[in-house]
Amino acid sequence: MLGCRWLLEDTGMLELADVTLADLERIDGEWPPLRPKKDLTYSWRWRELVDGEKETFLLKKEDGTPVAIWVSRRRKPIVLGGKLYYRLDNIEVHPTHRGARLGRILGILLMAVIAQRALEVGATGLVLATWDTHADFYGKAGGVQVAPRGWTVATGLIPFTFDERALSRLKEMADEFIAD
Ligand SMILES: CC(C)(COP(=O)(O)OP(=O)(O)OC[C@H]1O[C@@H](n2cnc3c(N)ncnc32)[C@H](O)[C@@H]1OP(=O)(O)O)[C@@H](O)C(=O)NCCC(=O)NCCS
Repeated sequence: MLGCRWLLEDTGMLELADVTLADLERIDGEWPPLRPKKDLTYSWRWRELVDGEKETFLLKKEDGTPVAIWVSRRRKPIVLGGKLYYRLDNIEVHPTHRGARLGRILGILLMAVIAQRALEVGATGLVLATWDTHADFYGKAGGVQVAPRGWTVATGLIPFTFDERALSRLKEMADEFIAD
């Protein structure tokens, strides 16, 4: 999928890329002051979050500006209840590109690109853990608040699962924006 490109009205052309140290330094320099102070993720630093993790990807604009990033801290899908799941650990959209209410769809496109990656590496589902503040977002993306057998989440977090059908639907959504 590396090099795949999607065209969004509000961001322009976006490309899937590997994350470089320069990208991480740019994100950690530019995004924190733009984050809402109430964000539960206000103090995230991506250099620490990804720290050598290979399953880390970036969506960037044609001029190289990073606009979305994710990491899975597992190189391969994990087996839960006999099925293969992509474990999604952290995601973030550039603070000025967020907001479904404002008609911005980068958040959902990011989930769609991640779904495509999950299918690419052979997963038939995706799991994550989040706060209740994010339940609407992941629910609208097609996730359900259940945990496959073996997926336990920390106290205060809620589990989300995307089955194969949800991943395929998300991929179809991403395909609508594919540029070439
Ligand atoms: C999660 C994210 C990709 C969703 O994209 P989006 O375009 O903002 O999606 P939505 O507009 O549907 O907003 C999601 C809701 O979650 C809330 N939310 C998002 N990030 C939040 C955070 N870090 N802390 C608290 N609430 C948060 C938003 O306020 C919004 O709620 P609202 O609709 O009541 O205003 C994006 O908000 C983001 O990058 N957030 C910061 C990082 C993050 O929270 N990652 C996920 C951790 S599980």
